[in-house]
Amino acid sequence: MRQLIAGNWKMHMLRAPASELAREVRAGAQGLACDLLVCPPFTAIETAAAALAGSDVAVGGQDCHAKGQGAHTGDVSAAMLRDAGASWVILGHSERRQNHGETDELVREKVLAAVEAGLTPIVCVGETEDQRVGGQETEVVGWQIAGSLPKPFAGVVAYEPVWAIGTGRTATEQDVATMHAFIREELVRQFGEAGQGVRILYGGSMRPANAGALLAVPHVGGGLIGGASLNAEDFLAIARAASRG
Ligand code: 13P
Repeated sequence: MRQLIAGNWKMHMLRAPASELAREVRAGAQGLACDLLVCPPFTAIETAAAALAGSDVAVGGQDCHAKGQGAHTGDVSAAMLRDAGASWVILGHSERRQNHGETDELVREKVLAAVEAGLTPIVCVGETEDQRVGGQETEVVGWQIAGSLPKPFAGVVAYEPVWAIGTGRTATEQDVATMHAFIREELVRQFGEAGQGVRILYGGSMRPANAGALLAVPHVGGGLIGGASLNAEDFLAIARAASRG
């Protein structure tokens, strides 16, 4: 299966630099043997989608509301993302879980809303530093998978250890191998054969220097990139590493 390299731009990029970055990604994406996705903030989705129209680079949101519409001041529905040009959405990112109190149950409802609106969800899971130090990492991730993914699940899972996000600390290849094998086992246990086909991304301080090694680990189906996705050169270097696999 082709790997997916997804850029999570988080709360960065006004529309002009977003358009420029999207254009640079588009120009460098030609002929790459991986799937490419950029996830701008809400306000730049339409701009990025316009810059990427007719290309193979997809656009996604970083969150959506669990309801289709209603009195939810400040929120954005999955259909609104789709209307703005998105075809994917990141859900349950640890920054949403930590800063907005999102629970597994809420994430599952959002996944259902996203699929209903025609978006492909990327559901994030991952343990905190304390949980890893306490030896609870697989237990925590197992619960997150059980609670956050509806049955059936037609999407992507991203393993993002919280302690590796934006810290420059990357999980070792051994950590990633162990966790991705565990996630695959859980997916198969919960979804049967369909669990074999779910892509499992790694995220957390992935950059050109470590991407090749991380993307070569068994059961790693791509990367969810934060900081390094804000720079086309680095993002495309990671995409080229994925294309070599
Ligand atoms: P960094 O690549 O900046 O560590 O962020 C990872 C991430 O949170 C992607 O969703």
